[in-house]
Order: sequence, then structure tokens, then C-alpha cells
Amino acid sequence: MAEPKLLFELNNLTKHFPLKKETLFQKEQLVVRANENISINIYQGETLGLVGESGCGKSTLGRTLLRLYPVTSGDIWYHGRLDEAGKPINLATADKETIRPLRKDLQLIFQDPYSSLNPRMTVGQIIAEGLFAHGVFDKNSEESQEYILKTMEDCGLAPYFVHRYPHQFSGGQRQRIGIARSVAMKPKFIVADEPVSALDVSIQSQIINLMLDLKERDNLTYLFISHDLSVIKYISDRIGVMYLGDIVELASTPDLFDRRLHPYTEALLSAIPTTDIRETVEIKLKEGEMPSPINPPSGCKFHTRCPYAQDRCKEEVPLLRELKPNHHVACHFPLL
Ligand SMILES: Nc1ncnc2c1ncn2[C@@H]1O[C@H](COP(=O)(O)OP(=O)(O)OP(=O)(O)O)[C@@H](O)[C@H]1O
Ligand code: SF4
Ligand SMILES: [Mg+2]
Repeated sequence: MAEPKLLFELNNLTKHFPLKKETLFQKEQLVVRANENISINIYQGETLGLVGESGCGKSTLGRTLLRLYPVTSGDIWYHGRLDEAGKPINLATADKETIRPLRKDLQLIFQDPYSSLNPRMTVGQIIAEGLFAHGVFDKNSEESQEYILKTMEDCGLAPYFVHRYPHQFSGGQRQRIGIARSVAMKPKFIVADEPVSALDVSIQSQIINLMLDLKERDNLTYLFISHDLSVIKYISDRIGVMYLGDIVELASTPDLFDRRLHPYTEALLSAIPTTDIRETVEIKLKEGEMPSPINPPSGCKFHTRCPYAQDRCKEEVPLLRELKPNHHVACHFPLL
């Protein structure tokens, strides 16, 4: 098999959100530590799934990667386009002029397409907007109209929908519009943030299969965020497990499900057959709430809930390391 090609190389990527001071006299600047020191690679053509409980920083990672948020510290080396010197571009420090043309490459599909689709624009206008903004086609050219209809067809949308407005569609069809808008740009990388979570189960598989077909056709790379383990297992080549802003385990999908190494992953997987993390993650963990990302526990952030925690875990931060080939874990006492 050919060596996988790098698309992203993240080095200690950190994203903090400063909180507003509550009183004039508050000296300390509190921050939400949404992503901390994330160092992972994303390879061309793969689907990297991202799982973890609500608030662990999945959406923040997706959006920071796309540089929709300014980066607190660390690097995002993007290998999808090279600079004049033939080097990858560091999105973390790139200025607006450098990032603007890259917007075409880097797309986002939302959980709730309705809120991201302009209600006053027709489907045709929604798909056309980015194409015109990036100068892919001249405005209202005949070829742009043909291209839009072809993109709609590829995404399972009938041509006569082109003049309709978002409110005239079902949830599944709206997600098809969101997908069509993204893939029309011929992107290299798509962050899909819970793209099927708001849909009926019967529709979910249609949308997932559409995304897989488009990926195959265009050699797309996905970061696919979901709290549903069955969806993640079905779509992902590799899976990253997040806890309180950290990636705690990263492995191929079969490795993660069959040979999990991190106690938190074990807890998540114990949620099967009810695969919804939101409902069931509590069962295997010690009593107590998820700690706050404003003031996370010392050492291993998971030590307050981990059934295997020892003294060392309270003091020493476990780094993500490759314990087995292509299987990374951040734990002092992995489950071998
Ligand atoms: N714009 C923001 N300003 C301040 N805090 C934020 C912002 N966006 C996210 N956060 C905080 O950062 C942390 C991570 O949030 P994020 O939305 O990335 O989590 P998530 O894993 O996507 O959760 P969910 O599964 O509920 O979507 C949370 O504590 C959240 O409250
Ligand atoms: S480092 Fe310690 S507390 Fe953290 S997951 Fe491993 S065993 Fe549990
Ligand atoms: Mg989210």
C-alpha cells in the first residue's frame, strides 16, 4: 500500500476562550481550555472520526483547524497547498490574505443546516455564492448554471429544486443542500460537525452514504464529529477520542474497538449497544460530574473519574504516545 500523504500536521495546537471578567475587581483572567496541546496528523483521503462527551472540544478543534477561530498557540501545517518556497502553510499564523484562497479547500458541514442556510436565498443561489466569491465561475454564466445543476444531481437533489428556498425542504434534503454547497467548491478537506445527529435514523444512512460516495469520487478528507459510536464506527478509518480538550486515544477503527488502550475509551465503548454517548457514558465511570475545562484536574485530566487512577495520575500529565504501531494513547497505565 502507498505511504499515506499528510494533509494536516498539528503541533501542540491549543485553543483557549477567554471569559469575560465578572466584576471590575476580578484580577485573574479565566479561560475555557477547549483544546490543549493537540499533536496529531491527518492524512489525505482518510475519514478521521472524533468522539467524546459534550463540551470536550470536538467542534472547537474542527473550527480551529479551519481557522474559523484564531489559534491560541501551536501549529497547523497544511500540506494541501504549498507556498512559494514549496513548504506547507502554517494556518495557525497565516494572515488573512494567505488564508482567503484556502477557504475554497477547507469546508464545514453543520449539524443543523437550516441555521447555516440563508432563508432568503434559493438553493441555486446558496450553491453559487462560494463559487462566485472565489471566481470559480463568472456570475450567472451558463456554465455555472450547468455546474450547479450537476452538483445538485450528484447530491440527490432534483433540478427543479434550484429555485426553492430552504424552508421548503425536509431535514435530510437540507443537509444535502449543505453538502452540495461544500462539495461544489471542490474542497480538499471537510469538517462534518454532527452532520446526521439532527436527522431521523432512516435518513442518516442515506446522508452518510452520500458523503462516502462523494469522498470516493473526489478523494476528500473528512474530520467527522459525532457522539454516536455506531455512526463513527461505520464512517471512520481512524478515530480520535477526546476528553476535556485533549486527544486521549487515536487508532484505526478496528484497533480502537477491539484493542482500546485508554480507560476513557473503555467507558465510551461500554455504552454499546446503546451507542449514544450522551446517555450512557456515566455507567463505567466513578461518580461525579465532568470537570470544568476552565479549571481542569491536575496531571491526567481524567483522574477524577478513572477507575484505574493511581497517585502518579494526579501529578504527571500523560502525553499522547505511539504505544503500538499507529495506535496512540495518553495514559500512564494503559489497558494492555
Ligand atoms: N465561542 C466560544 N466561547 C467561549 N467558550 C466556548 C466557545 N465555543 C466553545 N466553548 C467552550 O469550549 C468547550 C468545548 O466546546 P465545544 O463546542 O468544542 O465542545 P463539543 O465537544 O463540540 O461539544 P458538543 O458535543 O456539545 O457539541 C466548552 O466548554 C464550550 O463551552
Ligand atoms: S493516566 Fe491514570 S487517571 Fe489517566 S486514564 Fe490513565 S490510569 Fe486513568
Ligand atoms: Mg460540538
